[in-house]
Amino acid sequence: MATPKVIIHGGFFSESITNNEVKKAKQDALLDIVSKTNEFLQTNTALDTVVFANRMLEDNPLFNAGTGSHIQSDGIIRLSASLMDGKRQLFSGVINVSNIQNPIDLTRILLEEEDRVLSGEQAEDYARIKKFPKYNPEIPQRREEYEQNLATSRTSTVGCVALDADGNIAVGTSTGGKGFEIPGRVSDSATVAGNYATNDAGVSVTGVGEDIINASLASKIVTRVIDGMPLKAAADKSFTEMKPYDGFAGVICIDKAGNIYHTDSHPYMVYAYHDGVNAVTFP
Ligand code: GLY
Repeated sequence: MATPKVIIHGGFFSESITNNEVKKAKQDALLDIVSKTNEFLQTNTALDTVVFANRMLEDNPLFNAGTGSHIQSDGIIRLSASLMDGKRQLFSGVINVSNIQNPIDLTRILLEEEDRVLSGEQAEDYARIKKFPKYNPEIPQRREEYEQNLATSRTSTVGCVALDADGNIAVGTSTGGKGFEIPGRVSDSATVAGNYATNDAGVSVTGVGEDIINASLASKIVTRVIDGMPLKAAADKSFTEMKPYDGFAGVICIDKAGNIYHTDSHPYMVYAYHDGVNAVTFP
């Protein structure tokens, strides 16, 4: 029996760090979500738990995923998410899907399909077949930012890594993308660079998708752990390798021994974890 562990993130704190009101709201939201997620994890699998956590993060408009997502350059919101079951080593994802509330729920259904990554209009068609109601995830603040062409908050994403009592690891990641991107741009969050797990380790990433894909970040960290490197060393080495191009990224990770780790290349990533005793959030 392993001690269940969970870590979640809400991307980068890209509003001014001096905005204490927003900072406190994010800390409170993450503590609440990680506490509920830890409770859920006591009687559920890591896989169901990461879906549970991502759904709450997507529904919270403070974060750039699901409700409150950024708007792309043509005025449309497109969501991307992925899920990986470390036990079965199965990955599923949706890329640039519109008009649904919880893309993470779609990835959970796709995980059991033979075709496990869907994109664009066809992903939305598939959601309707699976009875997902039409939903507009836009909030007024994002429309105002879009109208003013504000380049704020472009690097938020949400994610969760969990280790359950049976020693299984799962990871889920969800995003509204960068904001103002060219329609059709593919986010790292629906790739193995942004979301990867085996039962050795799981990693969820936030940051600039292009940098994360350059580094193949999540899959690289997990591969290093599989090959025997400690989790912290695997993550730190992978971040060092992004320095030549000033890669903008942050990760949350858990390994099979229950080690929890977070690191980022730029300050102000927001995250919280529960180690089985305490819930802790970013300072
Ligand atoms: N990491 C989110 C994105 O770049 O789309």
